[in-house]
Amino acid sequence: MKFAVLASGYGSNLQAIINAIKKKKIKADLKLVISDKPNAYALKRAQRAGIQTVFINPKGFADRNKFDKEILKYLKQEKIDFVVLAGYMRILGSHFVKKYSNKILNVHPALLPSFKGAHGIRDAYNYGAKVTGVTIHFVNEDVDMGPVMAQESIAITSKDTLETLEKKIHRVEHRLLPKMIDLFARGKLTVKGRKVFTV
Ligand code: GRF
Repeated sequence: MKFAVLASGYGSNLQAIINAIKKKKIKADLKLVISDKPNAYALKRAQRAGIQTVFINPKGFADRNKFDKEILKYLKQEKIDFVVLAGYMRILGSHFVKKYSNKILNVHPALLPSFKGAHGIRDAYNYGAKVTGVTIHFVNEDVDMGPVMAQESIAITSKDTLETLEKKIHRVEHRLLPKMIDLFARGKLTVKGRKVFTV
């Protein structure tokens, strides 16, 4: 299976994926890393690992659909089977999501459906939640609402600061996302409605 990662930022999840591939913990081929940000550190990480990178400037496209179509062009070119969003801060349009139905994986830093949106860690912390966590899910047309592949909870203690919580969340993300990518790539997951089963 060939896959692409879409990332907008620091790329620590991308790094975890790259490391897992090197250790043969993901048996799939990462062909392409695409970013909407020219200076995303994720691009540097990919280049360092010898993976093809593409920056696509959203400003060059009249609307989301046209921007998405440009991404799809690269995915088609590389015969990409599935896509992983690893800190990709843009919403994918319905055309894209339909093309890769149940073949787009996302990592969210909270226990969905709680604390959706771009600031899942901070929102859970400020809310005073005692438990938060990490969700790996398929992407559908409703933001942060696709079928859940895996969730892991993390306690928020009175000793936690936002920074310590961020560290805990990232540690779990870096373990759980590669694991779910591998399961998916090996055909071990099936989706029935909202439910994801391991076979
Ligand atoms: C992660 O916390 C992920 O859950 C969220 O964005 C963050 C990306 O971090 N979607 P990084 O770029 O992988 O370091």
